[in-house]
Amino acid sequence: MTEKYRDFLSWVIYQIYPRSFQDTNGDGIGDLNGVRARLDYLKDLGVNAIWLCPCYKSPNDDNGYDVADYRDIMDEFGNMDDMKALISESHARGIHVIMDLVPNHTSSAHKWFRASKQSRDNPYSDYYYWFDEPPTDWNASFGGKAWEYCPERKQYYLHSYCVSQPDLNWDNPKVRDEMKAVGDFWASLGVDGFRIDVIDQISKDIPNGRNCFGPHLHEYIHELFGREEAAHLFTVGECWASTGEEYKKHCDASRNELSTLFQFDHLECGRSEKFVQTAPSLAAVRDVLVKWQTFNQQNDLLQMLFTDNHDNAPFLSRVGNDKELRYESATCIAAMFYTLKGVALLYQGQEFGTVSPRYDDISDFRDVEAINAYNGFLPLGKEEALKRINFGSRDNSRRPIAWDGSEYGGFSTVAPWTPVHSEKDRVNLDADIHGEKSIHAFYKRLLALRRATPELLYGDFTVLSKPTDPFFRFTRSYEGKTVEVLCNFETASDPGVSFAEQDLLRSNYKDRKDASAPFRPYEIAIYRVK
Ligand code: NOJ
Repeated sequence: MTEKYRDFLSWVIYQIYPRSFQDTNGDGIGDLNGVRARLDYLKDLGVNAIWLCPCYKSPNDDNGYDVADYRDIMDEFGNMDDMKALISESHARGIHVIMDLVPNHTSSAHKWFRASKQSRDNPYSDYYYWFDEPPTDWNASFGGKAWEYCPERKQYYLHSYCVSQPDLNWDNPKVRDEMKAVGDFWASLGVDGFRIDVIDQISKDIPNGRNCFGPHLHEYIHELFGREEAAHLFTVGECWASTGEEYKKHCDASRNELSTLFQFDHLECGRSEKFVQTAPSLAAVRDVLVKWQTFNQQNDLLQMLFTDNHDNAPFLSRVGNDKELRYESATCIAAMFYTLKGVALLYQGQEFGTVSPRYDDISDFRDVEAINAYNGFLPLGKEEALKRINFGSRDNSRRPIAWDGSEYGGFSTVAPWTPVHSEKDRVNLDADIHGEKSIHAFYKRLLALRRATPELLYGDFTVLSKPTDPFFRFTRSYEGKTVEVLCNFETASDPGVSFAEQDLLRSNYKDRKDASAPFRPYEIAIYRVK
């Protein structure tokens, strides 16, 4: 791996959705002091970086992805002093801090938009896209059309997401300078990196009807992060539809654009529509992983290793067995991802096997995308509409963390902003830690092994299983030593490995006494090849 990014291979990032993580001031909304209160917990788990979903001032139409002031903190989350304390207390524990930069759009409450919409000749008039008539027939991601008429200015503006999230015009050099200054502001406060929201959309090709991957995309990213001031930062761009060629352009170290990208093929596989229930097989996921590990190795690119985030239902519920074999499938998925080459990223609650919740009424949902989609599904009947929302809503991953089984799950002392997790009595951290089989304990041991094993951090990847095998088997080799990983899928199978000859490092079943016995459902083994 290129020297420039090699250090990132040892990062274990924990993504925090602050609103649902930990409330400390009793208003039912998570806050920055809640994150501070859990830093020791994260350190103990083996985390050395946190990514905070947007914490900026915002009216919260899209839970913070509608930024009203990039240099101030959302009232409900605390204030700038809390943020400074969080940064310094994280650093004191060896934990890096990654902020969520949202460069494609602001909130309509941002002062730039409030000025821009007033007239066609104010200093901010070209900060957004304005047209007399909609120049394209684009739809907005959260429903409805993407062009909205503004009576003050008598023109239409573009919003790729909510009506209150106008897209910034990156072709205006002043916008690019503003965003550089925002990045520099946070870097000067000690922030170590950025996750960049929908980076592929900042350059558009409106005449040709393309709202992402526009002609200046690479140039603008380079302008933002290719500067000396930004060279030390970890940067990961959110990019839903990147091909290998695009990935290469973004992440080739010599081009000075981004450290890495979120690549979503493994979350997309087996999914036709976001709200229609499907269950991709682990074999399909394996094949996607093999493809990207191989591609990134050949091209010396850094890969993000992740299964969950705030926009998707828990991977465990979609791909594993989240009932009878919750421990086995959660640990199998963990072993499958976090022994690969790349930057490990966990989403809050994943470390103790959080599952998808279920609710019976639309009033229990908060996500703007889900509520709009529900209204669209109503002609199919209320039951079908609810079924779809329960499956695909982003609320699935935004319920308050169930730290324990108490009334509000240890998240707050009052009813939270969004109903408590419907499964909290069965699935919570306290129950997991004190249970017979603990997913949290497995994660902790797995991350410790990764940290202590250069092969798992830096080693070359070689796949040994065939696409027809009901398991994933691969090696990681570094400086003449090899660690092998075997993850069995749903049904028992015999991969034909004799453990009598191997040095078993980790397993998720208590006994693997019989060295050549078949592998049980979701059984994994990580071993050093002698
Ligand atoms: C992607 C973010 O992950 C999502 O939560 C947000 O709604 C959109 N970008 C718009 O910012």
